[in-house]
Amino acid sequence: MKIVVTGGNGQLGRAFQTLAAADIDIQAVDLDVLDVTNQAQVLQYIEAQKPAVVVHGAAMTQVDAAEGIPDKAYRINAVGTQNIAAACLRYGCKMVYVSTDYVFAGDQTEAYTEFMPTKPLNVYGKSKLAGEELARSICPRLFIARTAWLYGDGNNFVRTMLRLGKERKKLQVVNDQTGSPTYAKDLAQAIVALAATEHYGTYHMTNNGSCTWYEFAKEIFRQSALPVTVEAVTTEAFPREAKRPPHSVLRNYMLELTIGDPFRSWQDALTDYLADEKEKGRVK
Ligand SMILES: NC(=O)c1ccc[n+]([C@@H]2O[C@H](COP(=O)([O-])OP(=O)(O)OC[C@H]3O[C@@H](n4cnc5c(N)ncnc54)[C@H](OP(=O)(O)O)[C@@H]3O)[C@@H](O)[C@H]2O)c1
Repeated sequence: MKIVVTGGNGQLGRAFQTLAAADIDIQAVDLDVLDVTNQAQVLQYIEAQKPAVVVHGAAMTQVDAAEGIPDKAYRINAVGTQNIAAACLRYGCKMVYVSTDYVFAGDQTEAYTEFMPTKPLNVYGKSKLAGEELARSICPRLFIARTAWLYGDGNNFVRTMLRLGKERKKLQVVNDQTGSPTYAKDLAQAIVALAATEHYGTYHMTNNGSCTWYEFAKEIFRQSALPVTVEAVTTEAFPREAKRPPHSVLRNYMLELTIGDPFRSWQDALTDYLADEKEKGRVK
């Protein structure tokens, strides 16, 4: 199975690059080769590659910056997705659009299933939701894979905590936003499994369980044996440009109902990630 991955140099794209399987050929491409906002380039690239599947991971992911430059966010996240969907339609490819928990308001305590209404709070979430709607209206062989709190090879919360944990003895971390941290490697593997099927539709794809950022930080330091005191604070203590959903926990309900939920707990995934980071010399 040949898979083209857009945003190939991002966290998810890099996870795809390291997936080893005899029967898959991964072409992870980034902005310098394939700018998803350039429709002619997208059509030409997909025609030349003839992939069975396009995993569309490219996005403007800077949540706070997007508030000040909404046109850029919509151009990449909505129009870029429209371009990928049109190419998948024209060349008969399956499409996987990677979306986000930020399509929800997070104003309830129950975990979100795929059947619950969306209501994004910020420009990033709105532009990603616009991407979902455009992809649905264009591409019939579509999987939408909503994930959350992603970490892999790139800038992410785990790496930030490990860096700060070495510089400081005490840290303040937000304890009133709850989500499901997800290891990019686990997401890439689950996407490959899903894309091999004909179970088209919208899927929540996160590691199992949930925590607040504060609880996530405590677990990172516990597993890394770093003696850091973590103080729980509210979102108000760290004012940001974009509003965040307070409780955007996703339940992998459609996976449960179709091929089975392959995701492990977020704690086990974190253990694997930290071991992988150590092996690659990224943490000491
Ligand atoms: N990170 C999270 O916590 C999170 C949570 C939920 C959902 N997601 C979704 O998961 C997907 C993967 O996230 P990620 O963490 O891997 O993101 P990432 O590390 O920020 O990677 C996104 C990649 O897309 C590239 N890109 C930006 N504009 C582009 C364009 N016009 N054409 C082609 N490529 C472009 C970026 O290149 P430059 O770096 O050069 O701009 C970057 O390499 C995204 O769709 C994101 O919305 C992420």
